[in-house]
Amino acid sequence: MLDIFKFKKDSQKEFVLDINKIPAHIAIIMDGNGRWAKKRKLPRSMGHKAGVETIRKIVKESKRLGVGYLTLYAFSTENWKRPKDELSTLMQLLVLYLKKEVDELNKNGVKINVLGDISKFPIECQNELKRAVKITSENVDINLNLALNYGGRDELVRAVKLIANDLEKQKIKNEDINEELISNYIYTKGMPDPDLIIRPSGEKRLSNFLLWQCAYSEFWYSDIAWPDFTKEDLQKAIFDYQNRDRRFGGIK
Ligand code: FPP
Repeated sequence: MLDIFKFKKDSQKEFVLDINKIPAHIAIIMDGNGRWAKKRKLPRSMGHKAGVETIRKIVKESKRLGVGYLTLYAFSTENWKRPKDELSTLMQLLVLYLKKEVDELNKNGVKINVLGDISKFPIECQNELKRAVKITSENVDINLNLALNYGGRDELVRAVKLIANDLEKQKIKNEDINEELISNYIYTKGMPDPDLIIRPSGEKRLSNFLLWQCAYSEFWYSDIAWPDFTKEDLQKAIFDYQNRDRRFGGIK
């Protein structure tokens, strides 16, 4: 067993991650930035800024552990309801993150993908995202999916429209429609479904995240706010996942 897969759990017992059972796809709902800031009497923007630091650490650790796909829920179709200044902070942080990190991510073999419709984002944001996707497009070590203006229902509405369009143009037939075909009309086309969905910060809901893809995902919740989430928390979540009995509706 490689040393990097040995960790201390609760600072007491050592626990060992199984190198052969690292989830192929981990998806994270990065929650709690606002409450983290409020608790420290800081503006919410500082919570989001601290959240970006956590992203850096978690991408690095996910790659080190051999996770193939890391999906981060960064902005939902419902997040437009937030005050204008918070929206602008989030867009600015995204641009800053990409400007600062893309070269390093590229060197580290990270391939950036966008899940969601970014056409409503400020043009600078769209351009940085397109640039990041292009620069990193040949990388194979880890896929970093940024879910931006993403909603599970919106994704399915979009897929239905695309399918209807292809039916009309007779590119596909009614009898071609099955689960595999639908999976090819959504943003995660060609990617494995998430094995593990992590939501820090105490809430236990899915919030319109990956509704089609999470049919058999394992969930892991914790009370830690996203800015305080560490690589050890990621390891704990994976350890917990590795000890689940996944039956996919069957019997063992
Ligand atoms: C949830 O916390 C967090 C978000 C809605 C935004 C997450 C975005 C970032 C961390 C920064 C930008 C993204 C990238 C990829 C650089 P919340 O505000 O809902 O927290 P609360 O529930 O405590 O209010």
